[in-house]
Amino acid sequence: MKLPPLRIGELTSRVPIIQGGMGVGVSLSSLASAVANEGGIGVLSTAQIGYQEHDFATNAFEANKRALKSEIKRTRELSPKGIIGINIMVAMNNYAEVVTTALEEGIDLVISGAGLPLDLPKIAKGYKAKLAPIVSSSRVIKLISKVWDNKYDYAADLVVVEGPQAGGHLGFSMEDLVEKKTQSLKQIVREVIEAIRPYEEKYNKKIPVIAAGGIYTGTDIAEFIELGAAGVQMGTRFVATDECDASLEFKLAYIDSTDEDIKIVKSPVGMPARAINNTFISSVAEGAGKLAKCHLCIKGCSPKNTPYCITEALIQAVKGNLEKGLIFVGSNAPRLKKIIPVKELMGELVMEAEATL
Ligand SMILES: Cc1cc2nc3c(=O)[nH]c(=O)nc-3n(C[C@H](O)[C@H](O)[C@H](O)COP(=O)(O)O)c2cc1C
Repeated sequence: MKLPPLRIGELTSRVPIIQGGMGVGVSLSSLASAVANEGGIGVLSTAQIGYQEHDFATNAFEANKRALKSEIKRTRELSPKGIIGINIMVAMNNYAEVVTTALEEGIDLVISGAGLPLDLPKIAKGYKAKLAPIVSSSRVIKLISKVWDNKYDYAADLVVVEGPQAGGHLGFSMEDLVEKKTQSLKQIVREVIEAIRPYEEKYNKKIPVIAAGGIYTGTDIAEFIELGAAGVQMGTRFVATDECDASLEFKLAYIDSTDEDIKIVKSPVGMPARAINNTFISSVAEGAGKLAKCHLCIKGCSPKNTPYCITEALIQAVKGNLEKGLIFVGSNAPRLKKIIPVKELMGELVMEAEATL
């Protein structure tokens, strides 16, 4: 059977695969446009998107704003017909300003997690962009839906459900992750589909539910479609592509990783995160990693008390200075064997999924 397209209101993505936003600098215009050109949805990570700008060290806000505008323009130029989104973490400072900049540039989709995007409909009012919270439980989508309904007369246009195998920050407790006591992604997806049903009825619209975290093959995609998901979001597999915006060293760290290398670490964002174990992680555990300069990136981060600067650590990693950097990763990275073009990856995923369906 053919893979069903992903419909988000009037937007139709021919292939129901969203490339997850990956910060800092891992998913920019090169990766996002390549995915969009293959019929999926390409997503720019807004996290410190201006890290390569000349004034990033002195004026991160302006540098990020300028880079966000130019990355959206470039993605559109490279993929004029594609669907493109931004990923923004609620935990970031200047959240509303960043979202507004993307909306003004005509972004199609705003995907937002790492916190509760409770005010997103207010910020996006009057724009055509679709709004998508990322959640890791049905409890959280119920909470967001209730607030959006009561305060803004709005229901989510799409929901991304991120399970315990995902890369980057994780919406579970450290203890549950380490002791493997979390619900499975399949279980959470089923519950979220149920939880949003009343809002689909009230707002007379379909709210597609997207599964994310640990999805690796086309067969995995088919299983989630059969379960009732409208599509999937994938991160780790897109890192091992030619078009991924990270350095070659970063991509090779994925290819060279083994299961023993994949660790759950504490992030200054206040959530656990999955990363590749390296000298940086052990040096932080030993008390190194003190802050050289604060980039004022995260709400509530206290430069005095933070064990390390997350912006600095992620920038070092994406540039390829791996021993000074924090390498975010999904649990499946050790399965990667080579770096391939996005076209080949998308073709393989669609073929496998259609053979299974
Ligand atoms: C290197 C890396 C960076 C990520 N950065 C972000 C981010 O900035 N914001 C976010 O919401 N998710 C982030 N994620 C999560 C992805 O968007 C995606 O949902 C997740 O990786 C899916 O799981 P998978 O990697 O097993 O496919 C990141 C993931 C990776 C691997």
